Amino acid sequence: MKPEILMLKQEDVIEAGALDMVMTLEKAELSLKMWAEGTLKNPTKVSLGLRETHESFFMSMPCYIGGDIQVAGFKWAAEGRQNYGKGLPLGIDVTVLSDPNTVLPYAFMDASLITAMRTAASAGLGAKYLCNPDSKKVTMVGCGVVGRFGVMALTNAVPFVEQIEIFDLNLEKAKGIADEFKDNPIPVTAVENLAESVKTSDIIVTMTTTPTPFLKKEWLKPNATVVQMGGRDLEDDVITSADQFYVDNWYQITGSGKGNVAKLAKEDKVHQDTSVELRYVVAGMAEGRKSYDNLVVYCSLGLGAMDIMIADQIYKNAKEKGLGTVVNLWDSPKYV
Ligand SMILES: NC(=O)c1ccc[n+]([C@@H]2O[C@H](COP(=O)([O-])OP(=O)(O)OC[C@H]3O[C@@H](n4cnc5c(N)ncnc54)[C@H](O)[C@@H]3O)[C@@H](O)[C@H]2O)c1
Repeated sequence: MKPEILMLKQEDVIEAGALDMVMTLEKAELSLKMWAEGTLKNPTKVSLGLRETHESFFMSMPCYIGGDIQVAGFKWAAEGRQNYGKGLPLGIDVTVLSDPNTVLPYAFMDASLITAMRTAASAGLGAKYLCNPDSKKVTMVGCGVVGRFGVMALTNAVPFVEQIEIFDLNLEKAKGIADEFKDNPIPVTAVENLAESVKTSDIIVTMTTTPTPFLKKEWLKPNATVVQMGGRDLEDDVITSADQFYVDNWYQITGSGKGNVAKLAKEDKVHQDTSVELRYVVAGMAEGRKSYDNLVVYCSLGLGAMDIMIADQIYKNAKEKGLGTVVNLWDSPKYV
């Protein structure tokens, strides 16, 4: 037997639906629900930090999806700061899908765009499940690869809002995205003054690469919903003064050793018993926002569950469309 692995390059992944935000949100939501219900395994990711020597890091993010889906897989995610200005994205990821019975790998695909799409979707789900239903304005901070998709995710996840203001230290990037989304059903405007934008916003979503927290508590409406996708976007007191605090994976975000939530946990300023993982809200097993007046904060470090759930759908779509290149793992296995 010659095991076949379907290799999907980025162009194939796009043709198979990687830029379909409706599908991405649906699959991201399903992965949270199945994880809460126990039909999906999402172990904490393992990090390989090479920041000091290479300004880069790698992460292995495994997942098993049970039920009718039945796939085991992992994403090998990486970010390289030296890529800036070299025509390479910051984040470059690949995903492998395997058969949980034979353990044979059967798909290998570019996952960089899937990551950006699912990260944006994850932010959208945070906003959807935690915001006040009469929210009218979103401020999105960070107009990089994830930010571009952030506009799509928010438009689909909180379609009732009336305006999306976007901010980036690099104003041209914000203007570029506003221009790209000039026909968006929810108007998108690039702004130059973040504090002014946040002061009248109901939902604030941050997805930046800042090494220094910048989002201030005094800018926020007392009942804002704040979603952090970067590791250090929020100043400490935004998190410590939240009336309700949510994370995607408590052990992962506090054990990662990096980012503001890990720091605050180490300082004994955020606690597991007063935090809730968003998956339980999505599955109807925990309460979302408890009061109209609450400041609600959600911080995410990213879940392999979403990557593998979406990759499974991309693989199925690619098979149906005849996309990709088949390679063999071996002609015949030795020493069996
Ligand atoms: N939580 C998750 O699941 C997850 C997954 C993937 C990436 N991320 C994180 O999302 C963030 C964005 O990733 P990306 O691929 O879009 O990066 P990117 O480099 O493409 O974009 C980052 C943007 O942030 C802007 N920025 C940096 N500091 C800022 C500040 N203080 N104020 C406003 N804008 C600022 C930059 O100008 C840039 O446009 C990164 O921190 C990345 O690690 C999170």
